[in-house]
Amino acid sequence: MSVHIARPCWTLTVKPMTTQRILTGITPSGTPHLGNYAGAIRPAVEASQRPGVESFYFLSDYHALIKTDNPERVQRSTLEIAATWLASGLRPERVWFYRQSDIPEITELTWLLTCVTGKGLLNRAHAYKAAVDKNIAESEDPDAGVTMGLFMYPVLMAADILMFNAHKVPVGRDQVQHLEMARDIAASFNHRYGGEYFVLPEAAIDESVATLPGLDGRKMSKSYDNIIPLFAPPDMLKKLVFAIITDSKAPGEPKQTEGSALFQLFQAFATPTEAEAMRRRFAEGISWGEAKEALFHKLESVIAPMRARYEELISEPARIEQVLKSGAVALRAKYATPLIARLREAAGLRPLDRLPATPTDSRTKAKAQTKPQFKQYRETDGLFYFKLVGSEGHLLLQSQGFASAREAGQAVAGIKNGEDFEQWSKLAPGASDASVRQAIDALCAD
Ligand code: TRP
Repeated sequence: MSVHIARPCWTLTVKPMTTQRILTGITPSGTPHLGNYAGAIRPAVEASQRPGVESFYFLSDYHALIKTDNPERVQRSTLEIAATWLASGLRPERVWFYRQSDIPEITELTWLLTCVTGKGLLNRAHAYKAAVDKNIAESEDPDAGVTMGLFMYPVLMAADILMFNAHKVPVGRDQVQHLEMARDIAASFNHRYGGEYFVLPEAAIDESVATLPGLDGRKMSKSYDNIIPLFAPPDMLKKLVFAIITDSKAPGEPKQTEGSALFQLFQAFATPTEAEAMRRRFAEGISWGEAKEALFHKLESVIAPMRARYEELISEPARIEQVLKSGAVALRAKYATPLIARLREAAGLRPLDRLPATPTDSRTKAKAQTKPQFKQYRETDGLFYFKLVGSEGHLLLQSQGFASAREAGQAVAGIKNGEDFEQWSKLAPGASDASVRQAIDALCAD
């Protein structure tokens, strides 16, 4: 039994706190609705007002192309969502506010990341898997109607995040897997090119942020056709509120707040005291008609001032265009252009008149001689292996074969985190537990 107990790598890589970079994207593929506002826009605008944060807000119009084939709709929705954010209190002079397609470096980064992303990782993405499962259930070809845009979606999203080395990404639960993938992809790039090019971003899920129900009680979503547009004119807002599905309890009968779409919508826009009062009225048997009237007035009181700003903004698209364009220009100069230059250099997309002294990669060689390393490779048997090589190039650990590079990588990560290496590998002849421990400590100290 091995007694290897190296310190876990993460204890050595904790960095002092810097400004937190928070990044949020919204895909302009439809009209913004109450769910977008309460679930994404409002919390993001609030977060941007906290001290010590640098916030990034963007319209993910490249993503929109995955969801819609209607160019007019992409343009219209981009305008509407930009105006919505500004009307909701976003201050473009205090935060980064831009449109994804104004930053061409994002597409370039997408390719650099694509080349370090395992196809197997993307095979497991929920959105892609759901499309495949649906096809199979309908006895279609598994990939029928699936574009590479849908398949590659998580890589594009990783590029959005990694381009600005965001620390935190406020997302709904449905996006958590994409954040995990962004971390995986960032780690693969860092590992392949041997540097800290990217920080590993984290999903920030605010438990208090509501996932709003739609008219039919399911999650409010364009795809369920159950939305209430955020800036619907008052008469339409009223009509939609009255169309919210309720149970058939008569006036005077006590009503459940739990599971009531009406109550949840009220709560998302009311103060805690107002919500408490409404909870009591439910228990006392408020009629559905009265409850709907109350919800309509609550929504109208919050939305009306924003709607007025929105109308004003949307009538001046040139001003919005100008705001977005200048955001992108400043952002490219400060972050995107320098980072892409660094990444190109790392990947070997370099000027030809600056060849290294010897035709081999002399810098990595020199480094390998002074640092222990895990090396991962594939053998002719088709299996994936790793070995740990000490600072003088001598073999310390030799792994068993793994079915996938990912499993081999996970074993390496496990060993780096202090797990017992004997689960996956054997000491090389002449090597000792102590020499392995020393080597791992040294490479973790990077
Ligand atoms: N995929 C997100 C959505 O559909 C939008 C998005 C695109 C995003 N890129 C992002 C969100 C990066 C956060 C970070 O809502």
